[in-house]
Amino acid sequence: MKYYLTTPIYYVNAAPHIGHAYTTIAADTIRRLKRMQGYDVVLTTGTDEHGQKIERAAAAAGKSPKAFTDLISAEFKKQWSDLGLHIDRFQRTTNPSHAAVVRDLFERCLKNGHIYKGSYTGQYCVSDELYVNDAKPGDPCPDCGRPTETVTEENYYFRLSAFQDRLLELYETQPDFILPETRRNEVLAFVKGGLQDLSISRTTIKWGIPVPNEEKHVFYVWFDALSTYMSAVHDEKIHGESLWPADLHLIGKEIVRFHAIYWPAFLMAAGLPLPKRIFAHGWLLFENDKMSKSRGNIVRATPIQKVLGTDALRYFLMREVVFGQDGSFSYDALVGRYNSDLANGLGNLASRTLAMITQYREGVIPEGASNQQIAQVATVITETALEAYERFEFSKVLEAVWSLISAVDKYIVDNAPWKLAKNPDEQDRLNEVLYTAAEALRIATGLLWPILPESAAKIWAQLGCRKPLDDLRTAELNWGHLEGGQHLGIPSTIFPRADAKIAIPQMQELEVAEVARQLEILGKKPEPPAAKTSSDSAEPSLAKAITKDGFITIDDFGKVDLRVGLVKTAERVKGADKLLHLHVDLGEAEPRSIVAGLALAYKPEELVGRKVVVVANLAPRKLRGLESNGMIVAASREGDLPVLASFLEDVPVGARLK
Ligand code: ME8
Ligand code: MG
Repeated sequence: MKYYLTTPIYYVNAAPHIGHAYTTIAADTIRRLKRMQGYDVVLTTGTDEHGQKIERAAAAAGKSPKAFTDLISAEFKKQWSDLGLHIDRFQRTTNPSHAAVVRDLFERCLKNGHIYKGSYTGQYCVSDELYVNDAKPGDPCPDCGRPTETVTEENYYFRLSAFQDRLLELYETQPDFILPETRRNEVLAFVKGGLQDLSISRTTIKWGIPVPNEEKHVFYVWFDALSTYMSAVHDEKIHGESLWPADLHLIGKEIVRFHAIYWPAFLMAAGLPLPKRIFAHGWLLFENDKMSKSRGNIVRATPIQKVLGTDALRYFLMREVVFGQDGSFSYDALVGRYNSDLANGLGNLASRTLAMITQYREGVIPEGASNQQIAQVATVITETALEAYERFEFSKVLEAVWSLISAVDKYIVDNAPWKLAKNPDEQDRLNEVLYTAAEALRIATGLLWPILPESAAKIWAQLGCRKPLDDLRTAELNWGHLEGGQHLGIPSTIFPRADAKIAIPQMQELEVAEVARQLEILGKKPEPPAAKTSSDSAEPSLAKAITKDGFITIDDFGKVDLRVGLVKTAERVKGADKLLHLHVDLGEAEPRSIVAGLALAYKPEELVGRKVVVVANLAPRKLRGLESNGMIVAASREGDLPVLASFLEDVPVGARLK
């Protein structure tokens, strides 16, 4: 039996980060689980390379779209191989084999009467590659908040409106088509609200797959991108069974609409089989915000891998985040989990069990009876874990396995094998304790392999098990499969303890280097974080990702000298439509000269006489030839205008905020 699963294909306008790694690691985990259940598994990932967003990113890097996408696509490929993920197909939307499938999908829909030509004038969000119906010029995109652009285009339209009933019927008859339930409810509500026809071609873009017989048109990126799931496995069969339709599309929750509405509708229109399931996981948050390239609050996987190992990241993501819900990343929590669960929990059980067998039985697993209570616990826990796996409840799987680890730990302490070893009459009991611990460790290791492939393979080898874990089947997780007389492999520490005071700065330093490397590939120069002021907020703050792991100390905060100032003069800066040049009285001998990016939000005359909050000890710098000696504090969401921080009560000039 085949099992075909996919991750989204990632946009190449930015380099990979742990948000992308999260989905791809989860997919790799499911791939291994399905292997263990005996399926012939194929996992596809890839890169989404067409469209305006990519065209612009390439131009910004001073490269042709082709050269640029080759470079970034290779970064993604390398990331997955560095992380040891088992990827069967890596599909790029720029592959010629892909274009043929997109055209075929279009022609099938056209032939079946579900595509027509029309024209559209309205607002478009380049970042999301989405028309924003009902928006006026200047309105922000309701999804991402960035400004929309006005476009007029002749388009091919897909008759999405005609598929409302069939889609609703699909969700009714296959209640697990969209998981989890919350996402299903959202989609249901959206479709019940009525569907508008969807433009599936663009004439304003060159960088895309041309529509057959229509020079001017290229395919809309989502029509193009979704087809990857088919083009990656095209007509392939495994043991006579066609790989398409996919058994699972794994995605992040923000792209549910495309996968659960558009994609099945395209396939229905083309008369092709539908994917069986769409699972949308939640967002990985960092500093309480969605980690995203446009917000700049990103963490990368490679630095973590280099310091703590791949499995530390995998364990953290699968244990700490309930799959399907949002979850937070922090370096502190990562190192905490690593030490308490991996080094002390699993690592400790492995090393004490193996050390005792080495010491008392010369490295040979004894024959003998096993403890019935532990055998019972292991059997129940194996069932629980496999059931949780089936529902992709990875954190529950891990909880279950860790309760087995605790039970065995307690069993070892209660039976004190170090005492039994000294008593010639207790050698049978010692055999029982050693076999029981080793068998429980073997079962735990097998259960953990999908989530912790690297460490599981190490423990497996140290236990002397020969069969590759990739060939292990769930039935072999039953109690008693471990053979007495088996020789242990060479022992070594699996999870050396990490010192947070050393490991965290190490990861952060490597992160800085990785950011710089990625920016260079993207053709951007990293800016020294110290030179940032509110007047140049265009680049998302790198300093944020680098210097923080969730908390600062009161001393860190104390380093920032925030003061109340009074604006004495304000004028526009020639040739810079965002900048104002201010003189602000901070209660010092002279007012400060400050250049601030407030001109779009405030008229100069509105500011004179107003009290503002100033970062008074920011290193001075020159902007447009003017001295800027401080920063005015204002709040904004990305893309929105800044709003000045102010006070309800009167407050004296020079007062310090603390
Ligand atoms: O949307 N938390 O590509 P994309 C969790 N090309 N998952 C995250 C994440 C985060 N902070 N950041 C990214 C696209 N992801 C389209 C897809 S598919 C036919 C086309 C993961 O580069 C998550 O899987 O924006 C999310 O759906 C995906 O990356 C978005 O990647
Ligand atoms: Mg995205």
